[in-house]
Amino acid sequence: MGEKALILAGGLGTRLLPLTKVTNKHLLPVFERPMIEGIITCFLTAGIGPEIRIVVGGPHFDQLLRVYGDGSDLPVPPGCPKPRVTYSFQKDEDGIGAAMLCGMDHFGEGSPVIVGLGDNEADKRDVKRGLATFRLRGSTGCHLFLTKSLHPRELGVARFDKNKNLVEIVEKPKGRLPSSFTVSGIYMYDAEVWNRVKRLKKSGRGEIEITDLNNEYIKRGEATYTIMRYPWVDAGTAYGRELASMRRLRALDPKLYRQLLRELSETK
Ligand code: DAU
Repeated sequence: MGEKALILAGGLGTRLLPLTKVTNKHLLPVFERPMIEGIITCFLTAGIGPEIRIVVGGPHFDQLLRVYGDGSDLPVPPGCPKPRVTYSFQKDEDGIGAAMLCGMDHFGEGSPVIVGLGDNEADKRDVKRGLATFRLRGSTGCHLFLTKSLHPRELGVARFDKNKNLVEIVEKPKGRLPSSFTVSGIYMYDAEVWNRVKRLKKSGRGEIEITDLNNEYIKRGEATYTIMRYPWVDAGTAYGRELASMRRLRALDPKLYRQLLRELSETK
């Protein structure tokens, strides 16, 4: 039995308007399946779950319940137990930290948690490696996943000191980039997380920021990280969703993927 997972699927999905006017962002397709299945399948195959709590919110929160119910209709990766899905409701779009708090009752204050953003696509091999490190440390502190991205200014970016220690995460940096490593939306926390997230104040944009939570762990010297070796993407933008779809097609059907590339090259 793996750790419990908390998948965050609230928010308004404004970067994918007008599609998100009528559809929950996390149900938009990444090639042939809904976006949210990417992170759920990744977690299940990495050995997390099968208990999954999904935080829903926004105008179309009910769509996720209608599609997945108790989890029976989720595809089960080979060798994985059947997922058991329950839900928490986030009333406002007040940030990732606030979404975590909505799921807290389900976990209880003494429980560690593995959090995944519902629009992220990652490779199970990276998550497995990070999970092994987290477990080796007795599931204490927090464990982050860093990767290089072509769009660092839209993400959290890591800052290191000259000895290559992680000293801070800067959310959506405006000026000079602190490093070329961005923070992905997969986070592993010890049971202290609930006390810490409860104490956070809203940021200037009115959100309880996961970056503030992570910086608290970093400041206390309790954060470790895995550098991802395989592709990762935030599929919550038009570009990201397209990239995730292409990668999915490449993995599912390499021949069809090559055909698509030929069609795109516009040469006969
Ligand atoms: O994707 C990784 C990035 O995710 C990190 O690099 C950033 O540090 C982190 O802040 C976050 O940034 P985004 O701008 O991508 O977060 P976004 O507002 O798009 O929210 C991502 C997911 O979190 C979304 O799919 C659903 C969930 N969410 C978000 C908000 C604001 C909620 O469940 N409730 C919310 O109120």
